[in-house]
Amino acid sequence: MDPPRTERMLVDSFGRHVSDLRVSLTDRCNFACVYCHNEGLGDTRGPGDPAQGEMTAAELVRLLRIAREFDVTRVKLTGGEPLLRRDLEDIVREASTFMEVSLTTNGSLLAPRAQALADAGLARVNVSIDTLDARHFRAVRRGTLEPVLAGLEAALAAGLAPVKINTVLLDETLGELPELVDFVASRKGLHLQLIEVMPEIRTDMMPRRVDLDKVRAWLSERAAAVEQRTMHHRHVYHLENGATVELVDPVGNPDFCANCHRVRVTHDGQLKGCLNRLDDYVPTRGLDDEGLRAAFRKVVAERAPYYRRDGPVRAAADPHHLYASLRRPALR
Ligand code: 5AD
Repeated sequence: MDPPRTERMLVDSFGRHVSDLRVSLTDRCNFACVYCHNEGLGDTRGPGDPAQGEMTAAELVRLLRIAREFDVTRVKLTGGEPLLRRDLEDIVREASTFMEVSLTTNGSLLAPRAQALADAGLARVNVSIDTLDARHFRAVRRGTLEPVLAGLEAALAAGLAPVKINTVLLDETLGELPELVDFVASRKGLHLQLIEVMPEIRTDMMPRRVDLDKVRAWLSERAAAVEQRTMHHRHVYHLENGATVELVDPVGNPDFCANCHRVRVTHDGQLKGCLNRLDDYVPTRGLDDEGLRAAFRKVVAERAPYYRRDGPVRAAADPHHLYASLRRPALR
């Protein structure tokens, strides 16, 4: 069910209200995932690079307070890798007094800080794990699996459940999906989120897109129940083995875009109405409260679904063309 709309809510010209923000705290990262869209900004910088242009905690909290006036009630903090920010706990502590705060992380730096983040008021965490095979993990992520699994355990121990595992579906690792599903079923408090790889802003992308119909059929066969979320109309499969699996399938999907209720914020404080657009940035730095309100109204006024029933707003790279010539091993 859609949440009730209020007078104060931001609603775009396609009737979509804004319920949550996704904030990139930094464009630095200690991994280098082959598929990374870096929230639409291109290459990520290394963890040791200077923190160029990152919003301060105070700037961000102020922006969130203005968003809260418009009945935006949830914020997801991401990066780059958000745990590279030493003041992450401070941000969570302040923001969680007036919003629900969750986190998307690669998990590698999470273990020693999970409890402090939970104590600061963090509600939930998403940890990106595309495969449980350490060698394949390294090939896809250019990082190490072990500390990520430690981070996952620490998040569960700190009571951050449900901990969502973000898995980008790649042809190379699709055969390992059953193992991942069993892992999620065996550990209480874990959910699996399967994400279709988005090629729109990475036309150079190496990883191979999988046949999602096969994945849907595989999940349906094993599901005791299927529900649909308000957010993006995503399907959630409750499997017979006890695993909860959500499918995030944005590519070429007008239904996904029609149900998008999210505005993004870049690490340097620009609002952005759609991940796939590179022409919709609205800067906010240095603005007073009234200026910030105007910035939110502007980004929402210009917000449009990327995929529409009458075709994309602008020409997207055709994923079928990109991947058509590549081999597709079967999901067993
Ligand atoms: N396609 C789909 N998901 C992506 N992510 C990053 N790049 C892509 C892409 N090209 C997702 C990962 C990670 C989150 C921060 O963004 O799932 O968990």
